Amino acid sequence: EKNGYDHFMLKEIYEQPKAIRDTIKAKVCNGKILLDEINLSPKELRKIKKVFIVACGTSYHAALIGKYMLEKLCLVPVEVDIASEFRYRSPLLDKNSLVIAISQSGETADTLGAIAYAKNKESKIISICNVVGSSITRCSQGTIYTHAGPEIGVASTKAFTTQLAALYLFCLYLGSIKGLIDQKTCKRCLKALEKIPEDADTILKRASELDELANLFYKKSNFLYLGRGINYPIALEGALKLKEISYIHAEGYPAGEMKHGPIALIDSSLPVVILIPKNQLYEKIISNMEEVKSRGGIVIAIAIEGDKNIIEKADHVFYVPKVLNELTPILFTIPLQLLAYYIAVKRGCDVDKPRNLAKSVTVE
Ligand code: M6R
Repeated sequence: EKNGYDHFMLKEIYEQPKAIRDTIKAKVCNGKILLDEINLSPKELRKIKKVFIVACGTSYHAALIGKYMLEKLCLVPVEVDIASEFRYRSPLLDKNSLVIAISQSGETADTLGAIAYAKNKESKIISICNVVGSSITRCSQGTIYTHAGPEIGVASTKAFTTQLAALYLFCLYLGSIKGLIDQKTCKRCLKALEKIPEDADTILKRASELDELANLFYKKSNFLYLGRGINYPIALEGALKLKEISYIHAEGYPAGEMKHGPIALIDSSLPVVILIPKNQLYEKIISNMEEVKSRGGIVIAIAIEGDKNIIEKADHVFYVPKVLNELTPILFTIPLQLLAYYIAVKRGCDVDKPRNLAKSVTVE
C-alpha cells in the first residue's frame, strides 16, 4: 500500500534511508563486512583477473558506478556492458573472470542471457539482486541481496541506491581481501556509508525546493544532465528518470564531452542539470558550467553543502551533504528522482505506470 503517499514512486523515494540502512545492516556485523552470500572464497576472489558487470536500464547505471569504485579501490580492470549487447560482441571471458549481474527484479531476460553466455565461458558469476529466489539469483553462484523491499513503481529508485550501497560494500570486502584496504580505512569508509541514510533524510526534508523547481520547468520539452567521473552515470540516471516518467526528452552527458557536439543544443530555453561534487574535477566541472552559462543555458546545480561559490554562478542550486567521493552518486541521485517525480506529476503523467513500460522486462 501507498501509506499515504500519492504514488508508489514517491513512497519508495522516501523509503531510501531505511532501504540503505537495511542493506548495510544485513552485511555488516561489529564493524566487519560479511559476504558469505557470494559463495566465493578469499582464494577464489584473489584469483580474479577481470570483472565484467552486466545489467539493463537503471541497474546498468549502478554497474557504471561499480566500475569506478572497483578500479579505484580494488585495482581490478572492469568492463561494463548493457546486458543486451554483452553476448552479441565477443567479450574475452574465462575462468578467472568475475561477472556481476545487477538486477532489481532478477527476471530481466537480457541479463539472464548475459549470465548464460558467461556460464559457457566458465566465469564466476554473482548477482546483486533485490528479489530472493528470482531467476537471476538461481543462475548465479552467489548473490549480494539488496534489502530495498518490494519496488512497485516502474521507475527504479530505492533499488538503485541500495545497489550502490551493495557495490560499495563488495569493493571494501574485495579490497580488504586483496590487502589493498587496511582495517582502519575500511572502518572509516563503513562509517561514511552508515551515515548515508541520515544524509538521505536531510535531502528528503528539502524536497519542497525540488517541487518549486519543477514548477518552473515542467513545461519544457528538453533537458540536459551533465556529470563527470563517478557522477557521469548519475547524469544518465537523472535523464532516464525524467524521460521514462514525464516523457520529456532528456540526455545525460559527460560534461567534458559537451564541446564535442551537444553544446550546439544550448540556448536560453534549455535547463541543464549539473552535478558538482567537491573532488579533483571540481574546477573542470565549474568551467563546463560556465560554458553552459555563456551560451544562455539555465543551470540547475546539484552541489555540496557549503559550496557558496556556486550560488553566483548557477541559476538554481540544490545542496546535498558532504560525503566521500565514492558515495556522492547515492546522494546526487535522490534530488534527480524527486525532480523527475514532481515534473511528471505536474504534467499529469501516470508516474507509477508510465506508458509502454513494464516493471520487469522478461522478453529479449
Ligand atoms: O529488474 P532490473 O533491474 O533488471 O531492471 C532493469 C531495467 O529494466 C530497469 O532498471 C528500468 O530501466 C527501470 N524502469 C528504470 O527506472
